[in-house]
Amino acid sequence: MCGVVGYIGNKEAAQILVDGLQRLEYRGYDSAGIAVLDDGKISSGKEMGRLANLERKLEKNPVSGTRGIGHTRWATHGAPSQANSHPHFSSDGAISVVHNGIIENYADLRDELSEQGHTFLSETDTEVVPHLIEQALKDGAASPAEALRCTLQKLRGAYALGVLFQCEPDTIYCARLGSPLIIGLGENENFIASDVPAIINRISEAIYLNDGEMAAIRADGVELCTVDGAAVIPEVKKIEFKAEDAEHAGFETFMLKEIHEQPRILRSMLEKHVSSDGTIDIGTDLSPDYFRKLNRIMIVSCGTAYHAGMYAKLLLENLTGIAVETDLASEFRYRDPKIDPGTLIIPVSQSGETADTLASIRMAKGWGCKIMAVCNVEGSSVVRESDATFFTNCGPEIGVASTKAYTAQQMAFALLSLYIAEVRGNLSRERVQAYLKDLNEVPDALHYVIQKKAEIQVIGEKHHDGPSSLYLGRRYNFPTALEGALKNKEISYQHAEGYAAGEMKHGPIALINEALPVICICTKTADEVYEKMLSNIKEVEARSGRIIAIVSEGDTELSKLTDDVIVVPAVRDEFSPIVNVGALQLLAYYAARARGTDIDKPRNLAKSVTVE
Ligand code: AGP
Repeated sequence: MCGVVGYIGNKEAAQILVDGLQRLEYRGYDSAGIAVLDDGKISSGKEMGRLANLERKLEKNPVSGTRGIGHTRWATHGAPSQANSHPHFSSDGAISVVHNGIIENYADLRDELSEQGHTFLSETDTEVVPHLIEQALKDGAASPAEALRCTLQKLRGAYALGVLFQCEPDTIYCARLGSPLIIGLGENENFIASDVPAIINRISEAIYLNDGEMAAIRADGVELCTVDGAAVIPEVKKIEFKAEDAEHAGFETFMLKEIHEQPRILRSMLEKHVSSDGTIDIGTDLSPDYFRKLNRIMIVSCGTAYHAGMYAKLLLENLTGIAVETDLASEFRYRDPKIDPGTLIIPVSQSGETADTLASIRMAKGWGCKIMAVCNVEGSSVVRESDATFFTNCGPEIGVASTKAYTAQQMAFALLSLYIAEVRGNLSRERVQAYLKDLNEVPDALHYVIQKKAEIQVIGEKHHDGPSSLYLGRRYNFPTALEGALKNKEISYQHAEGYAAGEMKHGPIALINEALPVICICTKTADEVYEKMLSNIKEVEARSGRIIAIVSEGDTELSKLTDDVIVVPAVRDEFSPIVNVGALQLLAYYAARARGTDIDKPRNLAKSVTVE
């Protein structure tokens, strides 16, 4: 996913733009560029690869101006190259555009423009935009704003656009359809950005553009309208989190910082959602009566959020008596799942911008279902398109590999399950209080695990060099096994597979040999499962597999079977995944560190997958 920034004020724009792009680099990049306007002339610089390459280029060829736009690119149309990097320009160079999204009808538009004499320098879909605007002005559009509106009406697909006109130096324009874009409000200066972290150090209020809206932004004000020209009254929102939330705060990577933030976030979620008398408030206006009548829940999400959905399914079924299904959003959107309007759809998404999850929401809306999101970003598309949202309030998650958002999603579902179980009468108030007492132990238990990072580092470094690794878990910790494997894949680039331990005999046991690390989650809090996990581990040991076991404090049995043991505090089995995953996050972290990968910005990955 690309990053878009813009600035208009009385300061030099170039450094402000680069600083903003730096804060957006986690969204994915293979090139970056800026365009600034000074004295009625647009000048620009763009470079392949890391942002540092662009900075070096701008040191040699500085550009000056107090308004401008910038972009980090994660290639969709056209390989990473100098020509394909943004900003893109009209034929006369007097219009400059940056874009996040996909113009789905760009090929037809390109053909049409070529017939009108336009030539293109890149293979990108984006480049049609400045040429369309230029053509609209040639065809008599009364103003740059009018030319932009005409252009937007022709575009199909998704866009977050920043536009600079040489002929209108006191304005920058932006527009949104399907890709996030905010307007940051400053003192005699204003900003645009794909995401709050890009400009969090410069603003405290923002306008979240809605789909189909565009804005003319001056240093002293903002004018919003729809693509059809109807005026829109802007809704100004206070930014909830602080600049330091988007800083490293002394940690070597954002991911390590975010792993450490988890106990605090979980504790604040409990404080926010559970009152002193033990009443749970899920923070949405879906009524208790709605949950009493609810007969089915469908959870849709991707990646780590999908593992949270798998965990949620088990918890909700077990505690509320409601039938729960979960599916990958990228699969769900092509199904005919026979869903009636009485089904509650729960999209789970950290960013709130994942294309497949959004597509599933839109599909479900067509069936008349209620949509309650579990999401981390105020103003995101998932939140806007849902009827209600349980916010995880983790602050910005910058590391591409999700950690704090995952455990917060699990906590959200634990609270939601207990709330629904109580309103439906499946659990008495006393039983709910007993569960809450156990849930209250989770933040400290996870903190304990994180404090053992030096031990976990030794194990991670010891087992990082193999071609693959296998993660095994059962019941509530089967999703944990999948999540641990995903973490490892994402950041260490070592193949890793999560598997239901009960499936070992159905195939994976053929993989076991002395080169294969087998990470077994065997926390002794559910005996029916513990004994079976123990026998799985003995099968691995009998075949000389390299066992890494996640065990509960006081378990002496397992420590005899392997020297690579990560001991975690024993908590109620239903909540053990929130604690156990901390060990797996750190295991993957130190394996990746030993392999020298870029942990916050792993190759080929973007923080939010806004394209399909
Ligand atoms: C998780 O570490 C990955 N970055 C990825 O799988 C992510 O969980 C997935 O893309 C879903 O993102 P979302 O939660 O923002 O929708």
